[in-house]
Amino acid sequence: MRKKIVAGNWKMNNTLEEGLKLTSEIVNMVNDEVNDDVTVVLAPPFIHLTSVKNSINGAEKIYLSAQNCNEHPSGAYTGEVSAAMLNSIGVGYVILGHSERREYFSETNAELAKKVDAALEHNLTPIFCCGESQAIRENGDFVSFVCSQIKESLFHLSESDFSKVVIAYEPIWAIGTGLTASSEQAQEMHASLRTYIADQYGSEVADNTSILYGGSAKPGNAPELFACPDVDGGLIGGASLKSRDFVDIIKSY
Ligand code: PGA
Repeated sequence: MRKKIVAGNWKMNNTLEEGLKLTSEIVNMVNDEVNDDVTVVLAPPFIHLTSVKNSINGAEKIYLSAQNCNEHPSGAYTGEVSAAMLNSIGVGYVILGHSERREYFSETNAELAKKVDAALEHNLTPIFCCGESQAIRENGDFVSFVCSQIKESLFHLSESDFSKVVIAYEPIWAIGTGLTASSEQAQEMHASLRTYIADQYGSEVADNTSILYGGSAKPGNAPELFACPDVDGGLIGGASLKSRDFVDIIKSY
């Protein structure tokens, strides 16, 4: 059975005080209101990871994620953070290949393949983001575009390593825009990705791969998206900065 996961990507938001307030509200609401079968992940900025970890301590269903890691093990890479460092402070997940990293920091599929390797080597679960631009959506090649992102960054993995990866489909035209993929559009892409993974690794691996949806998910549209058979949760940006909205999204499973 694949995992249901709802992850909150805070991006570059929240001072420490704001982040800790948000965390404690989420912890309380999740403890009181959320079923055990959903895994909740919080992805604050690097600088807040340890403090947020201390604040979620004891909340069994809440895990911590970074928003990026460097592909090198260590060395002269000023300003960067390695997978080993994240592992050493108790981080369990890392978001890789977010479209903002691809766009503003020129991350390529080849570089992301190395980041995925670094993450897996240090026992971090990659949440690998993929998704097409508006122009690609309009020209109709969106399924093959997203499949090639997955192929180029993930298909070098062994079956057992691939089985540790979580995928997040995030159409760029829906991120932070208020436009959401319809449940039909999300289901179409998620089912296509699952078939593509099955062709490479077999149907058992594909059936066990969690594929999250991201892009303007909100309490109002999450129930419909999560009802799609191939949508296994969400990667939530803006709405994860409001505890009530984030927990309502989790509860809509
Ligand atoms: P959004 O962001 O929910 O604000 O659209 C999603 C994401 O970028 O992960």
